[in-house]
Amino acid sequence: METSLRSCGRSHCPPGAVPPGCTVRLTQLQAVRSTLLIPLVARAYGARCYPWLDCHDADAAHLLGCLQTEVAPLLQDRLVMLNVLWRTLVLKAWGQAFFARHPHAAGVSLGCGLSNPFQWLDNGRNRWLDADLPEVLALREQLLPEQGGRRHNASIDMARDGWWDALELDRLAAGGPLWLLCEGVLMYLPPERVRALLAEFAERAAPGSVLVLDAISHRGIGQARHSPSVGPSGAEFRWGLQHSDELLQAHPRLRLWCPARSVAECYGVFGWAAEAWSLPWSGAPLYSMHALRV
Ligand SMILES: C[S@@+](CC[C@H](N)C(=O)[O-])C[C@H]1O[C@@H](n2cnc3c(N)ncnc32)[C@H](O)[C@@H]1O
Repeated sequence: METSLRSCGRSHCPPGAVPPGCTVRLTQLQAVRSTLLIPLVARAYGARCYPWLDCHDADAAHLLGCLQTEVAPLLQDRLVMLNVLWRTLVLKAWGQAFFARHPHAAGVSLGCGLSNPFQWLDNGRNRWLDADLPEVLALREQLLPEQGGRRHNASIDMARDGWWDALELDRLAAGGPLWLLCEGVLMYLPPERVRALLAEFAERAAPGSVLVLDAISHRGIGQARHSPSVGPSGAEFRWGLQHSDELLQAHPRLRLWCPARSVAECYGVFGWAAEAWSLPWSGAPLYSMHALRV
């Protein structure tokens, strides 16, 4: 995917980065990196289809206005639009509950893309770190630069061991619990990397820390071509849950922070019935949210 950037004069687009009125080709994002557009489009325009799931993202539409890229085809993927809006409401509720209990704690978004969850979780005292691959970070630095001393950007490859130290999370946590978010990311990683990431969280995080993540069923592995939004990006689904307990089995320190949620809840009785009927085949909900603690 080719992505261009256009300055629009708002504070998120510093004039020093892109001359006003000037369009420049900034970078080429490929495969999984380009999937960042999918949730961005959902948060910007998905509420046109699902007004009751509107997450009121203050940045997404503006960011898409800066990126000169076609968004209409992504909007056709109604299923994914719903999944993203639903997960945003879930993570907002979970994050707000965590920071109500730990107002001075810090939050981290792993594989942040161009999302800005801190807009909903900033309580004036907490801090936030957004981390992604270097190419994405370069784009993010121009569109969502660090702000106010409490929200920072960092470059990371979570496919490698040692991301906890690379992000200096001990320093960020300062001995307290951290709230980590990994949304729309793990399904693109190989299963052994997902297990390693969970283990690193379990081994390094202070008690009370929480890791929020979303997961597809293992039946989705290798099926990205059937998704109207993910398919054309060239990314592939590589990890999914065989059963819901699998996450806790990644490390003995892991516990549930709260019960998992399934997107079936969006479809009411029909959704729950369809899920109960398909679980013997799918092993886990087709799309679900999980919050793990140590
Ligand atoms: C579907 S996007 C989700 C972005 C963001 N979390 C959101 O919800 O808008 C997937 C993101 O994961 C990032 N990602 C994929 N593999 C990664 C890795 N090994 N290390 C860090 N980030 C990664 C991609 O660059 C991309 O920004």
